Amino acid sequence: MTPQTHALELTPEEREAGLDAEQLRRLVGLVEHDPATDPFPVIAQDAVIFVVGNATQTAQFYQVVFGMELVAYSGPETGRRDRKAYVLRSGSCRFVVKGGVSPDSPLLDHHRRHGDGVVDLALEVPDVDKCIAHARAQGAVVLEEPNDVSDEHGTVRRAAIATYGETRHTLIDRSRYHGPYLPGFVAAETRVTRPAGHPKRLFQALDHAVGNVELGKMDEWVGFYNRVMGFVNMAEFVGDDIATEYSALMSKVVASGNHRVKFPLNEPAIAKKKSQIDEYLEFYGGPGCQHLALATNDILSTVDVLRANGVEFLSTPDSYYDDPELRARIGKVRVEVEELKKRGILVDRDEDGYLLQIFTKPQGDRPTVFFEFIERHGSLGFGKGNFKALFESLEREQDRRGNL
Ligand SMILES: [Fe+2]
Repeated sequence: MTPQTHALELTPEEREAGLDAEQLRRLVGLVEHDPATDPFPVIAQDAVIFVVGNATQTAQFYQVVFGMELVAYSGPETGRRDRKAYVLRSGSCRFVVKGGVSPDSPLLDHHRRHGDGVVDLALEVPDVDKCIAHARAQGAVVLEEPNDVSDEHGTVRRAAIATYGETRHTLIDRSRYHGPYLPGFVAAETRVTRPAGHPKRLFQALDHAVGNVELGKMDEWVGFYNRVMGFVNMAEFVGDDIATEYSALMSKVVASGNHRVKFPLNEPAIAKKKSQIDEYLEFYGGPGCQHLALATNDILSTVDVLRANGVEFLSTPDSYYDDPELRARIGKVRVEVEELKKRGILVDRDEDGYLLQIFTKPQGDRPTVFFEFIERHGSLGFGKGNFKALFESLEREQDRRGNL
């Protein structure tokens, strides 16, 4: 590692959110990395961009229920006639929710095909042109050529490449920009009044964004991220680990050099009944983003507030906590197992440490996108030890929907 390593330098978003390098190391497993040797250096996830059926209400949901702050807006009032877009922040994590206003908005066609979902996992990069030149040479589909966009707050340089399904990675260099989000957006403010004692925020950062791809395509997409974006392989799950009696999946994880950006990729595996990944692919209309994991440093209070706000989580059977094997495997964690059991929080341990995690039910009408909340204590894993308990719980839900 050279002394010029920049990886543990914080992004302006992280600094603004009051995070420090040690917290990020713990929260999202940030590692040192020398961008000079990286063919496709990535600073961080810039934003998760959703297309939804009703952006106005979805933005309200993220503010009221997920405790996010509204920071920017674009729509008819700002000259964008066909759509509305709301930008929300929690710590260094940024969501953008977009919806069609005029009946001929292409966003409505997207929504008809996919329902509420993630259209863009936008990445902040220091050199858009370098990334695009490398991606193109490696065979990526360039959806938007590098171009400058400016307003009174400065200039961003941007481009976009295609990934699985109708999902894209917009690449943004915002080093010369000081506005609230991107040119065309105006600053906006949350009008929600939080009750006394409400935590400052319910999550601090995006930990990972999972993609579901078709049967037999996982390795192809792992190869894409290795080759096109220089991502490294982090962990590997094989079918047996994740298979339950009826449905199964395979999963591999790729990460950017500094590990700030982590993309697990799932494909269905052959099983007796329909895999949960097949259910997703059917209802999303093809490959797409399955879940977003949000990093919190206090999962107990986060879950308590979310539950009080009406969020429904996947249930975990009491037997999970009472299993002596699990108790032996997880050893000592920062809270009593009873506290985890009360809330249905899962725990997993590996050679580096442990993690606490919980999953919501799908957040839209279709059984597609959902959220995970994760509190890491050294573990850089993804809860491999919980996959079986988790999937049995998922299957109960799938069965209730008549899709198993
Ligand atoms: Fe996850």
